[in-house]
Amino acid sequence: MKFQVNDRNVEFDGDNEMPLLWYLRDIEGMTGTKFGCGAGLCGACTVHVDGVAVRSCQTPMEDVEGAQVKTIEGMAEGDTLSALQQAWSDNDVPQCGYCQAGQIMQAAALLSENPSPTDQEIEEAMYGNICRCGTYQRIKNAIRQVAKEA
Ligand code: FES
Ligand code: FES
Repeated sequence: MKFQVNDRNVEFDGDNEMPLLWYLRDIEGMTGTKFGCGAGLCGACTVHVDGVAVRSCQTPMEDVEGAQVKTIEGMAEGDTLSALQQAWSDNDVPQCGYCQAGQIMQAAALLSENPSPTDQEIEEAMYGNICRCGTYQRIKNAIRQVAKEA
């Protein structure tokens, strides 16, 4: 099957039921996307498939045929961080950092659909992304910063 990862054409002829997360980490070696619960409950593995935030631990390879997959590795343009990554840095969001790639991908999907979300819309969109370090307030501040700049 053919699809794209961060605008690069790729082919895969392995197990169609294998989770996309396995492909990204084990075959592509792109370890920015994290394995957390493995059960669709934490959001650490969030990537985009055709612009929609999905849990890659619950997304079988067959679902990405012909699709554009975007991961945290595809967010910056060369050395230039995306607005969200810059806001994450400006607000010192990460603590241990484990959940943050998933948080950024979830936030990016929200802002692409809704560039000026209300606080409630931010909370609803980010609700399923768990941070064991409790960085929720800083996550919200970073998203607000980008929303204001939009
Ligand atoms: S690892 Fe996929 S949702 Fe937790
Ligand atoms: S920064 Fe540690 S889990 Fe979120």
